Amino acid sequence: MNANRQMIMLHEITKLATKQAQWEPYAWYKEMRDNNPVYYDAQQDVWNVFLYDHVKRVLFDHELFSNKKQRSLIPIPDRLESRSNVNLVDPPDHRKRRALLSQAFTPRSLKEWEPRIQNIIDELIAEMEGTPTVDIVQKLAIPLPITVIADLLGVPSRDRHLIKEWSDILFLPYNTEAYADIELQKGRAMKEFAEYLYPIVLAKRQHPEDDIITDLTKAELEGEQLTNEEVVMSAIGLLGAGNETTTTLLSNIFYAMLYDQPGIYQELRADLSLVPKLVEEVLRFRFPASMDRRIAQDTNVFGPEMKAGQAIVAWIGAANRDESQFASADVFDIHRPGNQYHLSFGSGPHFCLGAPLARMEANMAIASVVKRFDDIRQVNGFDVGEHLTESITGQSLKSLPIVLGSNL
Ligand code: HEM
Repeated sequence: MNANRQMIMLHEITKLATKQAQWEPYAWYKEMRDNNPVYYDAQQDVWNVFLYDHVKRVLFDHELFSNKKQRSLIPIPDRLESRSNVNLVDPPDHRKRRALLSQAFTPRSLKEWEPRIQNIIDELIAEMEGTPTVDIVQKLAIPLPITVIADLLGVPSRDRHLIKEWSDILFLPYNTEAYADIELQKGRAMKEFAEYLYPIVLAKRQHPEDDIITDLTKAELEGEQLTNEEVVMSAIGLLGAGNETTTTLLSNIFYAMLYDQPGIYQELRADLSLVPKLVEEVLRFRFPASMDRRIAQDTNVFGPEMKAGQAIVAWIGAANRDESQFASADVFDIHRPGNQYHLSFGSGPHFCLGAPLARMEANMAIASVVKRFDDIRQVNGFDVGEHLTESITGQSLKSLPIVLGSNL
């Protein structure tokens, strides 16, 4: 289903061969910022930018850098490229599609969701109590976003394991050896997922409820309601955009508290108002994000002549460590003013629609853990290399065992 869309392989650009090296790509980022800030990868015909201002420009300037692309960093199943897809389109069309979804993410709806999210967090924390060592990825970072989004979409949360399986398969990295097999798996998962959601959409058209699928069934695009198929695809799109990213954020927050700046947990316990600063600093300091665009017109905005139709990758993780924007950028410092100007949620017209939700989930989850446990500690002999996923866009943790202090 994805055969026409050619993938851009990031690891072939970085040449970072091991998972550990991909988990800590920061020396390579620095080298690129210092020596090759506008870098052309001839093998894949891809431009790459690493400086804060350049990355921001690529994300922001949709006239030069378009989201209507033939190539991509992450596999996007063709069926997701429907009329209601918000990401693969440029303004002005983009505005209408985004308006459809953005009603679901207003500050008012977030406020209404707060108690629902707190309940889910409390249940997950209750399951950790009494076990001194827990895998925080499996116990919190994976189930929280998936349960929250399933709940907000109005899908029964008892089915969250199914949703997780499907979304894992849909975003599985391709590799050349197993291409056909992965393609088949994705086709099957997409079909099953869509068939699962379809009757839910029909039911909500008949009996509206207080959730996002219901909102989507009522929404109009160009004077017409979305078809059932389009509602299904929008729901799958939201699950895809919001799950893995928020899981990565939560996992990385715990990693940062234990390994980037041990001791910070006690600072948070003394002052819970620091939690949002921690969340922003983790997004800046340790978030594996890059975005790609199609160059829409011949241009030399960054110096070299770039041709219309070529691809360009904006290395967000590198921009977030650019010294010209963040003083002592390689130091993890939750107190540095302006940490929130990181680009991990993008910039410009496609700025992450779910950012307020992701921030709220992370802030509430960390504050709840800090209130409940008097400390967290590293497990003996931890080797991060044993806990990393296979990923095409950057490394993330598949597990992170931690020792929890006593309950309060
Ligand atoms: C830490 C968590 C998250 C991160 C780091 C993140 C990151 C991003 C980034 C970088 C973009 C811009 C894409 C581009 O420029 O093409 C984006 C767009 C988007 N995100 Fe997120 N995201 C997160 C969580 C979420 C959540 C929880 C949701 C919803 C449930 C969500 C929904 C979306 C949507 C719908 C878009 C497309 C917006 C558009 O194209 O106009 N994201 N996200």
